[in-house]
Parts: sequence; C-alpha cells; structure tokens
Amino acid sequence: MNTLPAIDALRERLVTLRHDLHAHPELAFAEHRTSERVAAFLRDIGITPRVGLAGTGVVGVLKAGDGNGAIALRADMDALPVREQNRFPHRSRHDGRMHACGHDGHTAMLLGATAYLAATRRFDGTVVFIFQPAEETDGGARVMIEQGLFRDYPVDAVFGMHNWPGLPAGQFAVHAGPVMACADQFDIALRGHGAHAAMPQQGRDPLIAGAALALALQNVVSRELDPTDAAVLSITRLFAGGEAYNVIPGEARLGGTVRAFRPEVQDRIEQAMQRICAGVAAAHGVQATLDYRRGYPPTVNTPAQAERCRRVLIDLVGEGNVRTDLPPSMGAEDFAYMLRERPGCYVWIGNGLAEGGCMLHNPHYDFNDDILTLGASYWARLVETLLAPHPA
Ligand code: NI
Repeated sequence: MNTLPAIDALRERLVTLRHDLHAHPELAFAEHRTSERVAAFLRDIGITPRVGLAGTGVVGVLKAGDGNGAIALRADMDALPVREQNRFPHRSRHDGRMHACGHDGHTAMLLGATAYLAATRRFDGTVVFIFQPAEETDGGARVMIEQGLFRDYPVDAVFGMHNWPGLPAGQFAVHAGPVMACADQFDIALRGHGAHAAMPQQGRDPLIAGAALALALQNVVSRELDPTDAAVLSITRLFAGGEAYNVIPGEARLGGTVRAFRPEVQDRIEQAMQRICAGVAAAHGVQATLDYRRGYPPTVNTPAQAERCRRVLIDLVGEGNVRTDLPPSMGAEDFAYMLRERPGCYVWIGNGLAEGGCMLHNPHYDFNDDILTLGASYWARLVETLLAPHPA
C-alpha cells in the first residue's frame, strides 16, 4: 500500500484511538464521549473544533494559502445496537452496543488526515472536517444540514468514505453515479370485519386480503419499472389475528422496505403501491391505508467528483487497485443528504476479505487496522490534489 510516510508515522496513534473508540461505542445522537475525543484530538493539533452541531457533531476547519476553494471531508461516529461477539482486548465495554460498521475506523482515518494536513499544509484553500452523529438510523447528516452545516461552511464539494468488507485491503471502489440505494419504509393497514372462522360469509377477511396483497405487490418491481432500473420491494412484516384458531381477525398489517437508486423510481413505486393496495382491498371488500415514508435518499456521486477521486486513488494505489466495476449496494447511507446539497463522491475502501463473519453489522465484525493509514492517506492526497497550491 502506498501510504504517505508522514501518515505511517501516525499509525500507532490511530490504532490506539480506533481501539479506544471501538471499546466505547455510542448510539445515534448519544456520541458524547466520542465527540469529546474527536474535539480533544483536534485541539491537540491546533484546530479549534465547533462542537454541538446536531448535538454531538463536531466540525473542524483548516485553511492554508489564500485560495478560495473549499471542500468537506466527512466521517461518521455512531455505533449499532449489536451485542459484540469478539473476544479481543478492544471489544465493546458496553453490552448491546458495538462498532459493527467501522465508524470507529472512519473517525480515526479522518483524524489521521487532519493531523497530517494541519502539520504539512501543502494545499491552498479551506478544508472542513465533518464528524457526524447518527448515520445508522436517524440521519445525523440531515440534522447537521438543517442546523446550517453548508450555510456556515459553504464548500464546493463534499466527500465520504466507507470501509467495504469483501473488497481486499489495499483496494478502493468508486462509482460514477449511484453507490447506495434509498431506504424507504411502508406500513399497510387492512381493515375488514372479524367473524367466526366457521362463518366467513359474515365477515370481511383482511387476512386473505393481506396475503393477496403481499403477492400482488411483488408485481411492482417486475411489472411497473423499467427492467434496467434496479429496485427492491421487500415485505418484512405480516400480522393478523391473535391467539384464537376459530376467529377471523378484523385487521391485518403489512410492512416492509423499498430500495431504489432514483427518486423517479421511488415515486413510481409509491404510486403503484397505492393503486394496488386500493385495488386488492376493493376486490376483498376491505379497506386499505398505505403509509409510505421516505427514508435516506439514494447516495449518488457526481461524475466529475467521482473521476477526480478515481484519479487520486490511482495515484495512491495504482489502477489495478481501483475498482470502478462494482455494482452499487442496496444498502443505504445518510451521506446521501450531503450529496443532495453539494457535488461530491463517496468511495469504498477495502476492509479485507469478509471471512469469519466480518461483514458490516455482524457481531464478529471489526474494522481492519491495516487500512487506517491508507484511508488517511487518501483523504490527505485528495485535499492536496483538489486544493493544489498554484506554483509561485
Ligand atoms: Ni456504516
């Protein structure tokens, strides 16, 4: 791996920091200790942090030269409500909370780059370092934006990075468009009339309507969408009835998630679901209400910024280690909110082959310490390239 020597020198410090964060995971908007550690690190290298944006968010700013260019680099800080199964010394000290997505590593990588850039300042312009809360569930990025992130720090572009198990350490992946999907949720309530199970003609059975609806909704992706548009509609909840074997229930409920890469596809899916819910309900003589809720938007890189990141990565690790052919993920990511506000690019850094249950959100997961300096080097080279000083 072609890490920067000055960042290699930070390796032990970054590993220690990462292990400390891993041992003390904190959930969405409760990253108080993590936020304090980040702020203390920034102060230690001469950056006065702004704390408290979105509660536990931290922002640091570094300027060099007199250039007008400004970019933002973002790391996420929150952990997951997962019970860690690892036994290594830096395992979680908090039962039921775990850094199972590597945000401990993301935070450490960005701090490593910050330390390097604060010491070397071989760039011309402004770098904004964003340490955001609540990536996993509650959209900390959205809250930071609502509280003025890009008003107070008007950057030209914003960049993100996530570790990717299954991609070898030393490799990166860049997408020139969609990289992660939206994550919408829906609930459907079907109201009929309960009845004695032996006398179904006296009721209106919402359970049969629910079963029919679960099947009918499978046609949304296969029959309503352009076949080249990827999307998923998964029904993950189906409830009806109580304890009794001889009672037709009065109500049934379905719920699930929708994933897609384009807002137009989300619109189309929601409209089709409304129509199918109403139609199936009418066919069964019951009433349906669909509650369709938009979650994280699709994460879509802007092609120009993706190309710049690709070139920086090729300089760093060589063309053979920069993948541009990986399909996007149907997972979701709240960096999407930042990409709705500013051009930018979100890359994947290989976390190594995902053996031993080392997938994201798995109780055996751990961030790969061997890529800490590589990720920090990418951040550093991205800044030095995008904000390259003009020759004197
Ligand atoms: Ni994550």
